[in-house]
Amino acid sequence: MEKIFTASCIGLGHRGIEYLQEMYNTPNHYKVVSVCDIDKKRLDIAKHDFKLDESLCFDNEEDFFKEKRSDILIVSTQDRDHVGHCIKGLKLGYDILCEKPISGLENEVRELVDPQRKYGHKIFVCHVLRYAPAFTKAKKLLDAGTIGQLVMIDDIENVGFFHQAHSFVRGCWRNSNETSPMILAKCCHDMDLLTWYANSRCKSISSIGDLRFFKHENQPEGAADRCLDCKYVNSCPYSAVYGYTVLGFNARLSVVNERVASKENIMEALKTSPYGRCVFKCDNNVVDNQITMMRFENGVTANLRMTAFTNCKAGGRILKFYGTYGQIDLDELANTITVGVFGKEKEIINIDNLLDLEDGHGGGDAGIIRELYNNLLSTQPGSTTLAASVESHLMAFAAEESRLKGGELIYIKHQ
Ligand SMILES: NC(=O)c1ccc[n+]([C@@H]2O[C@H](COP(=O)([O-])OP(=O)(O)OC[C@H]3O[C@@H](n4cnc5c(N)ncnc54)[C@H](O)[C@@H]3O)[C@@H](O)[C@H]2O)c1
Repeated sequence: MEKIFTASCIGLGHRGIEYLQEMYNTPNHYKVVSVCDIDKKRLDIAKHDFKLDESLCFDNEEDFFKEKRSDILIVSTQDRDHVGHCIKGLKLGYDILCEKPISGLENEVRELVDPQRKYGHKIFVCHVLRYAPAFTKAKKLLDAGTIGQLVMIDDIENVGFFHQAHSFVRGCWRNSNETSPMILAKCCHDMDLLTWYANSRCKSISSIGDLRFFKHENQPEGAADRCLDCKYVNSCPYSAVYGYTVLGFNARLSVVNERVASKENIMEALKTSPYGRCVFKCDNNVVDNQITMMRFENGVTANLRMTAFTNCKAGGRILKFYGTYGQIDLDELANTITVGVFGKEKEIINIDNLLDLEDGHGGGDAGIIRELYNNLLSTQPGSTTLAASVESHLMAFAAEESRLKGGELIYIKHQ
């Protein structure tokens, strides 16, 4: 019989529930036993969906952390709570699956390494794209030398116009004073992928970008502060009514906080929810466009363009790898990887054919849960060590420092 790991989770938002669902769907590897959230509705959803014992569902962290509840702890609370929850978990002896970013504060990210070494348990940061088949395929092609020596990477992070409005104007990651700067919240995956693909640590970084559009002065003449009161409700593409009821952006937990989102409960929630606010009248400060340039220690260079202003529902990345003997294009929007070895016919791989599971992050959510299992069984550190994850965060913090200094070149202070 295979080993079954028991799992607990603190923070039952989209992410926590997603991982628990993956575990629940794999009963030969995992058993979900305990959860904690300060939101009673979310606690009830998890208790019901994962058939949990009432006595192991906690509405406060003090009781939850009184003792160790399982082998694994999933930390999927908000950005600034991760480190505190990880340290409590390490002390109790958990191996931890921690959501990214590790923290929105650089000192906290650096400081987590010491307790992790001291207590000796694993912390696996959710850089899910490393486990998404399309991104893994690109890594295999590069490492096999398919396009010769890698010279340069071009990465576009297409956030998507409504995803920007939902998460980074109205939602949880709108204000860097409360959570994380955009380059960390949205692009620490890109930083992680770029250092992974380059096979090298980043040496220097420079970045420019700003909040161009979602500001009070851009509110159209006569617009109201809430979409439901606004004369542009049916013509504005950023209208909450359009986004959640026509475009079909996921409103389940964030907007209505229910198991199912319907037109009725969405319209009711938009009367008072922060997600019903005009995008030009929010308390947001994170950027909507940013360009970052990187040089890696082995000479590879990379460029990352992050933009809100892309016409896709839930975003998607386009990466181009330029090598001495060819080019590889990974395009999540076109759903293809194109391998163009110089002097040969192009090969087009359909990304759908690489996916064996329908899930979020192009197969990455299921992939990381599978990899976690193998990692816990093994004495090897695996590909997503805490140190590797810290590296991507240091790149993001340096990029933000550069942006705030008008694009100054910053040399990374490695951990
Ligand atoms: N890996 C990825 O690609 C990815 C994608 C999106 C978000 N994230 C990250 O995942 C994390 C969670 O995101 P989400 O969308 O699920 O957010 P969310 O706000 O929906 O969920 C967080 C949950 O934590 C709960 N919580 C807050 N403080 C708590 C406490 N002290 N004790 C117990 N519960 C508490 C909240 O009630 C909420 O239910 C964030 O850090 C986010 O940046 C990662």
